[in-house]
Amino acid sequence: MAYTIRVPSHGQTIAAEKKDILADKLQQAGVPLNLYCNKRGLCGKCFVEIVTGRRPDPGEREKFWLEQKDLSADHRLSCQYEVDGDLVVNVPVSSTHENVPILPSIPRSAVVPDPAVKKYYLELPKAEISSPDSLFERILTGLGAKSLKIPMETLKELGHTLKEAGQKVTVTVHRESQVLAIEPGNTLGQNFGLAVDVGTTTLVMELVDVESGRTLDMEAALNSQSRRGADVISRLTYALAEAKNAAELRELVLETLNQMARRLLLRNRISPASVYEVVVSGNTAMSHLLLGVPVETLARAPFHAVFSRLPGLNAREVGLSIHPHGVAYFAPNIKSFVGGDIASGLLAVRLADRSGHFLFLDLGTNGEIVLKAGEELIATSTAAGPAFEGA
Ligand code: FES
Repeated sequence: MAYTIRVPSHGQTIAAEKKDILADKLQQAGVPLNLYCNKRGLCGKCFVEIVTGRRPDPGEREKFWLEQKDLSADHRLSCQYEVDGDLVVNVPVSSTHENVPILPSIPRSAVVPDPAVKKYYLELPKAEISSPDSLFERILTGLGAKSLKIPMETLKELGHTLKEAGQKVTVTVHRESQVLAIEPGNTLGQNFGLAVDVGTTTLVMELVDVESGRTLDMEAALNSQSRRGADVISRLTYALAEAKNAAELRELVLETLNQMARRLLLRNRISPASVYEVVVSGNTAMSHLLLGVPVETLARAPFHAVFSRLPGLNAREVGLSIHPHGVAYFAPNIKSFVGGDIASGLLAVRLADRSGHFLFLDLGTNGEIVLKAGEELIATSTAAGPAFEGA
C-alpha cells in the first residue's frame, strides 16, 4: 500500500510503503538529516515532528532524548519510525546539517613557494634538413634537459602541436623529470593547483596560483558522506555493512569535490586543463574512502591503515577533474587514526621547529591532540562527533 509523506519544511512530497523507515525516505528525497549514529537510534539527532499521522509510543531511548531535548510529545526519531499511513512531518533545522558552520576563512602560514610543476616557454628554431634532431629531442634541448618522461598521447600529438603553434610552445614539467603537457603558445602564468581539506563534516578547497603561492579563491561545502553517518566510526561501519557502500561513499565525496572545483574555476575563468596539482589533506578514514581503498583493516583490530605515505598519484585516476596528467598528493597518515589532517596541521604551524612545550588541538568531527614535550611529539585522536565542528 502506498502512502504519502508531506514535508512542508522542505517542500517535499514523498511516496512510501508500509514499514519504510521514515529517515530513509527523507534521506532519499534529499532532506539533509543528521544521522550521526547511522540510524541506530543512539544519537538522538534525527527527531522530526509528526504533524499529522500515527505517533507510536516512544521507546525508552526516545523518551530519554525527548526529555533531554525538551521536545514536544509529537516528536519521534525518524530512524526508528516505521511508516504505517499518510504523514505530514516537520523536520526542524536542528535535525539537519543545514546549520553546520563552515569556516569563513582559514589562517595561513607563510610558505615560500617552490612549485613541483613548472612551465617553460620555448620558441624552437624552424626544423631544417641539415639538423635532423627528433621533435622531442628539440624540446629537450630547448629545456636544457637530458631526458624527461612524457605521456604517450602528448608524444603522439607533438608533431601536430608544434606545427599548429609555429614551433612556439609551453612545456609543463613535474619535478624536472616528467612532462605533463606541451601546449601551443605562451601559457606561462597559467599554473594552478587545488588544496583540499577533506574533513569528516566539511570540505574546504582553495584555488592556488602555484608559482606565487597566492590563494585566489576558496569554496566550502558539507561532506555529503555525512548522510551515511556523521563521525568516522559511523562512516566506517557504513562502508563495511555492504559491498557497494564504500563505492557510494567515494562517489559522494568525489562528486562534491568536483562540483567545488568546477565552481572555483568557472568563477575565476580558469580551465581545468591549467590545474596540474591537487593536495589532499584528510584523516586516515577519509583518505582511504576517497581513494576507494578498502577500510576493513583500518576499522577492525588491530586497526592498520592500508597506506601511510603515497607517491604522487594521477589525479584523474583518483577521480578529480583537472589536467589529465595532473598529480594528486595525499598528506601522509602518521598512524592508523592519526592522519594526514594532523600532519598538515603540524606542518602549517611548524610545531616541530618550535622550542618549548605545546598542545596542538584539531577540534573537528574527528578530534586530534598533539603534545610537544621537548623534542618529542605525542599524538592521539578520537571520533569527537560534531560538537566542535567549526571551532
Ligand atoms: S538517533 Fe536517529 S540517526 Fe541517530
